[in-house]
Parts: sequence; structure tokens; C-alpha cells
Amino acid sequence: MSQEALPFEERYWPGLGAYQDYYRRSVEDIEEFWAERARELVWTRTWDRVLNSENPPFYRWFEGGRTNINLNALERHGSHGRGRVAYYWIGEDGTRRVISYDDLARYVNRVAYLLRETLGMGKGDTITLYLPMIPELPVFMLAAARIGAIHSVVFSGFSSGALADRIVDANSRILVTADGFPRRGRTINLVERAREAVARAKELGVEVEKIVVVRRLGLGIELGKREAWLDDLLREVPDKVYVKPMEMESTDVFFILYTSGTTGKPKGIMHGVGGYMTYVYNVFKWNWDPRPGDVYWCAADIGWITGHTYIVYGPLMHGMTSIMYEGAPDYPDPGRIWSIVGEYGVTTFYTSPTLLRLLRKYGDQWVEGHDLSSLRLLGTVGEPINPDVWKWYYEKIGGSSAPIVDTWWQTETGAAMISPAPGISLVPLKPGSATLPLPGIVADVLRDDGSRAEPGEKGYLVIRRPWPGMLMGIWGDPERYVETYWRRFSDPDNNVWIYYPADYAVIDRDGYFWVLGRADEVLKVAGHRIGTIELEDAILTHPAVSEAAVVGAPDPVKGEVPLAVVTLKEGYEPSEELEKEIRERVRSLVGPIAEPKKIVFATKLPKTRSGKIMRRIIISLIQGRPIGDTSTLEDPSAVEELKRVLGASS
Ligand code: PRX
Repeated sequence: MSQEALPFEERYWPGLGAYQDYYRRSVEDIEEFWAERARELVWTRTWDRVLNSENPPFYRWFEGGRTNINLNALERHGSHGRGRVAYYWIGEDGTRRVISYDDLARYVNRVAYLLRETLGMGKGDTITLYLPMIPELPVFMLAAARIGAIHSVVFSGFSSGALADRIVDANSRILVTADGFPRRGRTINLVERAREAVARAKELGVEVEKIVVVRRLGLGIELGKREAWLDDLLREVPDKVYVKPMEMESTDVFFILYTSGTTGKPKGIMHGVGGYMTYVYNVFKWNWDPRPGDVYWCAADIGWITGHTYIVYGPLMHGMTSIMYEGAPDYPDPGRIWSIVGEYGVTTFYTSPTLLRLLRKYGDQWVEGHDLSSLRLLGTVGEPINPDVWKWYYEKIGGSSAPIVDTWWQTETGAAMISPAPGISLVPLKPGSATLPLPGIVADVLRDDGSRAEPGEKGYLVIRRPWPGMLMGIWGDPERYVETYWRRFSDPDNNVWIYYPADYAVIDRDGYFWVLGRADEVLKVAGHRIGTIELEDAILTHPAVSEAAVVGAPDPVKGEVPLAVVTLKEGYEPSEELEKEIRERVRSLVGPIAEPKKIVFATKLPKTRSGKIMRRIIISLIQGRPIGDTSTLEDPSAVEELKRVLGASS
């Protein structure tokens, strides 16, 4: 992509110089910089070493330091935080709960007691949380952290198959779920899925000892002998119990969160205690410039990293008052989000381009009539934002006065890496660009051969220096950690270590970063990360299927959606019934968010002579682009057939 082709319109805030000064100082000595930032937090023991780089890429931050996130998210606010609201919770069905910092601390202590005393959990044990967007989710996260246990939150939209894999990989003996939750007015029965997952996990060799069930809907469910209602369990816990936060080593594992990669097996991304805490605290401040009286709303799901960092740990460490909304953003009508903004006087609103595209499509009549004048900062995350959607957000939602903080980051990075930082000094914005790297972050764009790309030249985004929010590794798979993130551009012989996020990007002449999308076989469907191989594996479990190739097809709302090209075994014919069954496989093994938009039947797939599926050719055909070099193609007639079937089904 050339510089000229970038469709931007510049709007200026005067903060560029001040920001650049701050940035320059931050990278002169990153260890000193991060040490200063870490001193803003509560530690029970100061670190001996800011960064241990002896065994790269296994970096260790704040070694020797001890702390617990609870000290900074709860204890730190002390008595002055008592009455302050932590969460205004809004159920899809209109139910409301107001949870003050005091309520939250009391609840967390009771649940921590329950985990430790009743369920016998302790430091290093893993606990899987399969919960909808209810206050019990942050409560269990904090409670687990309080006793030194490692939480693994699994998005409540995932199917039982995906949950089972994650329980097994994390070796979790305790699972927390809810009876169900409302979604677009229907009831989702979560316990049922949790039970299926537990049965499946047992087949795979991991036995869940207890399922704790939160009563969200009061469904008349009979619980089995290994299952217990949370409210029954809490009846045995003293009302005002205090559980002293376990002193954690900074380099202990804080939590794991699974994300998709380029194999069928999801990766358990591990974050460390002190590094994640320090990074999130600071980046949150830079992104949202917290002020007294703010009402902050990150409209994501806690099941993803955005929710961990920007609904739970970031806002709580800053004593923010947040909105937590349970339901679908367009239910009961497409004005739901804006009516909540108006009613609660939301000042800071952070969401995904997908949601904005959806809400814009419904029409401005759903925005008008709501008082959005309280908004002073807007944000986006998860995928590139189209400049026209940016403009709509800026003008219609922000009243042409609220800057847009476009944050580029990943599950692996802990918090934003490239984004405007109004908490330091707001730089001029360009619609569609995440602007500049945050302090302490050294980013670059490289060519295939590792040399630096010219301004305007598309290449691979890389990070050249470690940062505190970086993942500590992949749970149970150190080799995959090195392979996935550090092999591509590093030069171990010369001790050069370069982090590879697998995104394409361009740096423009002003040094601004434009992230263009994934450079690997991972899709971004509605901002969610889904591995094509995971979907192919699910499709291949159908007895009629011989081969499957999944690619991303452009979608005006979701950005991209999976499209599957499937070949069948001898004796099977394409049919609507078969298509339905294959869809069902994906829904039940991965989850409804991964369901292919289209399933196309063919008699062969485009492959190289060595048998590798050439997804690139399918993508070019869908996008109507030239298919490029086909010299390695084994059987050119596969392309002709694909043209026909793809054309026929579009
Ligand atoms: O491709 C980039 C895209 O989302 C990927 C990370 O996905 P995940 O780990 O699920 O985390 C999403 C929430 C942080 C990145 O590799 N991405 C994320 N933010 C942006 C983005 N692409 C462009 N612009 C962004 N602001």
C-alpha cells in the first residue's frame, strides 16, 4: 500500500511534540523507565532486577518483586474507595446491580475463602471460568488471584468442545459456570454445555472435581453430586471474612487465556503477575486519562483479553467506575448502547469496529435522541477501522470533539502497544491508523528478508524490545512460544530477539503505523481471533468430508467471515442436509461465532505438488483479484472448478 493510497484526513491536536519527548525519554533506558512506572504500584517486596534477559526470549520482569493484583485493584483504594461504584451492571433483561468497591472487596474475600477453604485450592492451581458477563466473573478472577490460583476464562459463547479442550490443556479440577443467561431474549443454558464439556474432558483424561454454578436466571435445574450452587456454598462462608492476598512472585503465572493460532490446538497465553500489572496500569492511564467523575465503558466480553485488561484489571487498579453490560448490543433495539451511554453519562467508550459497523448500518435514527454529550474519549480495538466508520464514530457519536483512541494490541501483549495516549499528550489522529507506539515500545515494519521497509511499503510489524505486558510463554509448550513469536526475524547467534505478532503493517512518512491485518492463517471474525485450521479440524470430523480449506471472506459488518471449501469422500454427494450437518459440527466443536458463512463443495482443492492447500488462490478468487503465480499448483483444473463453484454460490 502506498502512502498516497492511504485514505486519511488529518485532524490536529497539538500534542505531537510533547508526546515525542516523553517517548524518546522512555526508550533511552527502558529498564529505568519501567522501574519508575512500577513504583507507582503497591509491592510487598521490591524487585532485585527490573528485567532478566539471560535466557531470551524467556524474559522475566521485576524478578524478586512480590505483589498481588488485589493489593492494587482493591486494597489500594482503602476507605476512600468504599462508596465509590466499581460496576454498574446492566442485565440484558433490564435487571440492574450496583457494586461499590466495598461490595466488590467483600464478595472477593468470601469467594477467595470458599476457593481456599471449601474447595481446597491454592497457589498454582488452575480454575476455569465459563461465565457470562455477570459481576461474578471479575469476582472469581480476583478471588483466584487473591489465593495465588491461575484463572483461565473461557468465553461463554464457546461450545462444549472448545471448553473441554481448554479444561484439559489447563488441567483444571474446578469449573465455574452459571445456570444460563439471556441472549436476545432467549435463554442460553450454560450448565448443559458445561456438563458436556466435563464429560468430554474426562474422556480426554482430566476429571473435573467440582462445578460451581452461579444462579443467574434461577432456571429449575437439578444439580448433580459434583455440582453446587454458589449461593449454597457461600452460606457456609462468614460474612466479613478477610483473606490475606497471597504474596506472589512477580514472575509467577498470573493467568492463562487461550487464543487461536495456526494449528488446531489453541494456545494458552500465560501472563505474569508483576509485568502484566505494571503494563496494564500504565497503559490504561495513557489510553483513558482517568479523571474523577468518569464513567467508563469497555463494551467487550471479559472472555477475551480486552475484557481482562480493560473491564477488570485496568479500571479496577485506577478505581474507575465502569459499566458492565450483559447482553446483545442491539437488543431489544439498535439504540441500546446509546441509551445506556446517555442514561449513565458515560465519558469514555471503547469498542470494536465490528460493533460500530453494525450500529451504523441500522441508521442514525437509533443514535439521535440520545444524549451523548458526556462522551469525551472514544476507543476501538481488535481490527483495523475503516476510515468511513472512523468518521461516523467521530462525528455522530463523539460530536466531533472526542478523540478516537485506536489501540493495536494482542492477547499476547497484555495491553495496547500502538495507540494514541491522551493521558500523556494527544497526537494528531489519522482515521484508520493506530498512530504511534506507546512509551517503552519499539516497533518497526520489516520486509521478508528482515530489512526495514521504506515509509509506505507494506511489511511485517515487529517489536524490537521486551515490554512488561508481554506473554511469559505458552502454557505447557515453551517450544511453540519460541517458534511462533521469535523465530521469524530473530538472530539468536547475535543475541537479537525480535517479537513477531504476525500482522501486516505500513509506516507512513510521519512515522504513523497502519496495521493492515493478519499475516498468518488466523481470521478476525467480528474482531474475534479464529484459526482456520481449528475450523478445518472441526469440519473434518464429519464422516462425509474428505478435505476442507477455510479462508476469510470479506463481510461488511464482521470484517471477515469463514468460508469453507469442502471435498467429499467417495459415495457422498453435496446436499443442503450435509451443509447443515457440517455447520452444526463447527457450532458444537468451536462455537457459533465460528460458523462458516458459506460452505462450497468441490471435487478437489488447489494444492501444491507437495500437497499443501493453496488458500491464497481461494482468497484471490473470492476477492476477484488475479490469482498470481500458479507454477507450484499440482492440478490447474482445480482453479477452474473453484471459479465455477464460488461464482455459483455467491
Ligand atoms: O491482527 C491484529 C488485530 O487483532 C489481533 C489480535 O487479536 P486478539 O489477540 O484476539 O486481541 C484482540 C484485542 C486486543 C492483532 O494481531 N488487531 C487488534 N487491534 C487492532 C488490530 N488490527 C488493526 N488495528 C487494531 N487497532
